[in-house]
Amino acid sequence: MSLMNDKNILLGVSGGVGAFKACELLRLFVKAGSNVRVIMTEAATKFVTPLSFQSLGAEQVSVDMFAEKRESLEHVAWSDWGDILVIAPATGNIIGKMAAGIADEILSTQAIAFDGITLLAPAMNVKMYNNKTVQKNIKYLESVGVNLVGPETGYLASMITAPGRMSEPEIIFKRARQLLLKRSSLKGRKVIVTAGPTVEPLDPVRYLSNFSSGKMGYALADAAAGFGANVTLISGPVHLEPPPGVRIIDVKSAEEMHRAVVKECPRTALLIMAAAVADYRPSAFHKQKIKRHSDSMRLNLRANPDILKSLKRNRPKVVVGFALETRDVEARAIEKLKDKGLDLIVANNPTEKGVEFGSDFNKVTIYGRKGLAVPLERAEKFDIAVAVIEESVKFLKKRGSKRKK
Ligand SMILES: Cc1cc2nc3c(=O)[nH]c(=O)nc-3n(C[C@H](O)[C@H](O)[C@H](O)COP(=O)(O)O)c2cc1C
Repeated sequence: MSLMNDKNILLGVSGGVGAFKACELLRLFVKAGSNVRVIMTEAATKFVTPLSFQSLGAEQVSVDMFAEKRESLEHVAWSDWGDILVIAPATGNIIGKMAAGIADEILSTQAIAFDGITLLAPAMNVKMYNNKTVQKNIKYLESVGVNLVGPETGYLASMITAPGRMSEPEIIFKRARQLLLKRSSLKGRKVIVTAGPTVEPLDPVRYLSNFSSGKMGYALADAAAGFGANVTLISGPVHLEPPPGVRIIDVKSAEEMHRAVVKECPRTALLIMAAAVADYRPSAFHKQKIKRHSDSMRLNLRANPDILKSLKRNRPKVVVGFALETRDVEARAIEKLKDKGLDLIVANNPTEKGVEFGSDFNKVTIYGRKGLAVPLERAEKFDIAVAVIEESVKFLKKRGSKRKK
């Protein structure tokens, strides 16, 4: 079952121009199977109405602390119900009130009564954001365990590009999901994940590549960040937003990916190679576009470097590979595990129904030495990623903390 299924989300909305994006955030939580109750400040109702949230699947929307028809002590009761309180957008005003312990309307009252996981997505004009008191309030809230996502540097309502823009709903959703994992077993450890396809240029306008979407690797990086790791994601060209809290290195070819992995490997606890690295590249790069001149054409290819085999020095403590096979999946995966000296290998078959290339779902078996085989039912890639990280952490623990990297 998906991690977000049946989670209780308190979604606080304060009065900023980004309030409309909270509707999309609500939709993401509802789609993931979570129960959502919305708490709006009065100012938020000037930007978006309670009806919007009701129509999009909120169980209840609370606006007025002193409304007549209410459950007993609802002004604080919801705080016992929520698994997480997400305030998006979080205005400079609500941040200030939370830092000072002020509870003068329904959202700040619930926020102060809530002792679970709190996530704020600040959004405001750059001058407000840079204000010293606002910065002090943000730092103070962080120091007492409040989590923040964003703000991003982007195009603001004041028509300039500057810091202050609320993170996109998908990023806020993913950060909330990381926090709801409640895992810390990789805290302070360095994890590298490779993802996506590589592209092997043939001429200035053409390349050889494969159908990898990068979704599995991005989910692994996302989950590893949820376990507290310092994650570096080395990614081939994909159409995906990097997950929150993850450092990204963009590469194109297998050779570039090889160089990036070798450079990043020192002091790494866990390396997960989920990228679909091209085995071969065109042996020559044509400086000019190749002209069509006959009915057929031959391409000469040469082997790319084998990234896993080349990691002799600075080899991470635990190395996990992926085997994407269309037949004899188990036998080929175990052969690759041995051949490349991996600790674990995750085998999947993209020709199976419901887990094709580009799908948000996967169905895998994790193989290890000594006959270890952990089959995982079809599930969202994030949930598969969590299971892969769990197995990797078990392996990391087995290796002991003596040579802690
Ligand atoms: C058009 C408009 C846009 C605003 N956008 C923001 C914003 O993005 N962030 C912010 O902190 N305040 C913004 N404000 C100011 C807040 O609405 C104001 O501080 C309000 O008191 C916040 O109340 P609340 O925190 O209870 O929701 C905006 C005000 C207006 C009129």
